[in-house]
Amino acid sequence: MALKHATPMLDELDKGPWPSFVSDVKRMAAKGNRMCEDWLGLMEMSYKDKEGHWKHGGIVGVLGYGGGVIGRYCDRPDLFPSVAHFHTIRVNQPASKYYDTAVLRKLCDLWEAHGSGLTNMHGSTGDIVLLGTTTDQLEPIFYELTHDFQMDLGGSGSNMRTPESCLGMSRCEWSCINTQDIIYDITQEFQDALHRPMFPYKFKFKASGCPMDCVSAIARSDCSIIGTWRDQVRIDQAAVNAY
Ligand code: HEM
Ligand code: HEM
Ligand code: SF4
Repeated sequence: MALKHATPMLDELDKGPWPSFVSDVKRMAAKGNRMCEDWLGLMEMSYKDKEGHWKHGGIVGVLGYGGGVIGRYCDRPDLFPSVAHFHTIRVNQPASKYYDTAVLRKLCDLWEAHGSGLTNMHGSTGDIVLLGTTTDQLEPIFYELTHDFQMDLGGSGSNMRTPESCLGMSRCEWSCINTQDIIYDITQEFQDALHRPMFPYKFKFKASGCPMDCVSAIARSDCSIIGTWRDQVRIDQAAVNAY
């Protein structure tokens, strides 16, 4: 199927053996996804003009929350009506990012029905990032997430941000602390700060089970929690010999 907009510059990024976001978005556009079609046109124009055509058009969100949705609008809705709004939703990922495939399929279905179908698994902060939806879809999405998925929005703006942990004790032999438990606890304790902006800037917690620091808590968070040995390393020689 011929796509709505010609994209000679983006097409360059479609070439070669490596993964390409252009190939992905084109595949979705070819299936009749209007947002992806106009997204391609808008990107091509940005490449040509050497400037971004996304703009901030004000704050959007869901009732009672002051974060979790990042408002995006394009500055040429006349040319690209399907991406006139292209808001991003941050969804709090499960601790250490464990999913089963049923949930992942359901998330993709949700996003194809209510948004562009484009996702980013995961954003820098750790959230499931759902890219591109319109203001009228925000409450229905929020309702489904919280009622059918038992999932919540993440942080944005001057909220506390979605906390993140390494795999910790669930899979890693080096872990000195239960990072998932700590992050779950922090998430519950600071629900208010996570959903309502109360700081002059963002605030982040991250927990790594050992000094390897796989979530880069030191570089990426304001409060880094890192498991260490409190004492000399102790080895049960009898158990080692019996192995
Ligand atoms: C060539 C296209 C793009 C590139 C190379 C790009 C690059 C990036 C990078 C490197 C990050 C930080 C890493 C991350 O969060 O995973 C980021 C984050 C983000 N981008 Fe883009 N981006 C692109 C297109 C877009 C578009 C089209 C939108 C929305 C209209 C967008 C919205 C965002 C948002 C909301 C975040 C924050 C997500 C988070 O919490 O991590 N980006 N982008
Ligand atoms: C106009 C100013 C800035 C904009 C628009 C911006 C935007 C963003 C966005 C969209 C992200 C991804 C979402 C997130 O991790 O929360 C991000 C991440 C980040 N930004 Fe910025 N940023 C700005 C200034 C700064 C400054 C001044 C610093 C540090 C001196 C900084 C350090 C970081 C770091 C370390 C991350 C990654 C955090 C993580 O991985 O969790 N940013 N920024
Ligand atoms: S930070 Fe340490 S405990 Fe956590 S995954 Fe990395 S090596 Fe394992």
